[in-house]
Amino acid sequence: MSKPKILVARAIFPETIARLEQHFDVEVNQADQSWSRAQLIAKLQGKQGVFTTGSERIDAELLGACPDLRICANMAVGFNNFDVDAMAARGVVGTNAPDVLTETTADFGFALLMATARRLCESEHFVRRGEWTRWRYDMFSGAEVHGSTLGILGMGRIGQGIARRGAHGFGMQVIYHNRSRLAPELEAGCKARYVSKDELLKTADHLVLVLPYGPTSHHTIGAAELALMKPTATLVNIARGGIVDDAALAVALRERRIAAAGLDVFEGEPQVHPDLLTVPNVVLTPHIASATAATRRAMADLAVDNLIAFFEGKGPVTPVTQAKATLK
Ligand code: 8YV
Repeated sequence: MSKPKILVARAIFPETIARLEQHFDVEVNQADQSWSRAQLIAKLQGKQGVFTTGSERIDAELLGACPDLRICANMAVGFNNFDVDAMAARGVVGTNAPDVLTETTADFGFALLMATARRLCESEHFVRRGEWTRWRYDMFSGAEVHGSTLGILGMGRIGQGIARRGAHGFGMQVIYHNRSRLAPELEAGCKARYVSKDELLKTADHLVLVLPYGPTSHHTIGAAELALMKPTATLVNIARGGIVDDAALAVALRERRIAAAGLDVFEGEPQVHPDLLTVPNVVLTPHIASATAATRRAMADLAVDNLIAFFEGKGPVTPVTQAKATLK
């Protein structure tokens, strides 16, 4: 019996390719070329599976043009690049890569919070520019982290990881808002108190965004929400670009309506809103919250596990679609 044909859309660990090749007929992109949509569709002809990384949009148009496709395995916990309704309607399975990146991503969320609150990058650039000539009592004075109020918008696994770090490591009061309230034992585990979105915005000293992106979360934080925040507050986005109105944020930062922001994700990334590049009180990182070698390997392994399990007829390990896709 011939092996199922798989496309790997982006460059990935050689070990991941080797593992895939044990089970599949694999076409790779180890040169990491930026394929146009038409090129991606052309590459997908005759493929039953695709290993995606979160940047390839899988929608009705693509699925209509790729009738052999049965499964799309995302190497990311977020799957806003999938039109899950269109996939379900065509019986195409989508899978994501949850859990394996939770702690690593929560570590990074906290790192970005601290860098932002304590003005790490701004002051580092100052030293590099040779401007540090003498000590001053108020030089780069930032916001207190320990004992402050940590707000979390989106209290899934990663949000809870950040809450645990804040509550247990830094003695912070943790408040959160989420579509649904956590079970009491989960709230107790991270010492978090459920509040309304308005109270969260008004009360948090540091607000971390960890909610999934979709039409209902587009510009969850815009000018009106930023206006509710404390002028001393910091905002951290490790979720997705598009959750924050980046143009409105740049204005709020320039006018010091909030103190600072730390951003790992951007609207239209890898493009960054030009106004964000000119304000000093923002820390900018290139979507690296899950980027440790061990975690990226685990994410890739989980995407491969999903492909193998699906084609062995066992069903995917971590599906995000309800589709009962069948093996052709
Ligand atoms: C990924 C992420 O690195 O998992 C996610 O949702 O945002 C990151 O961990 C990125 O999406 C590329 O796969």
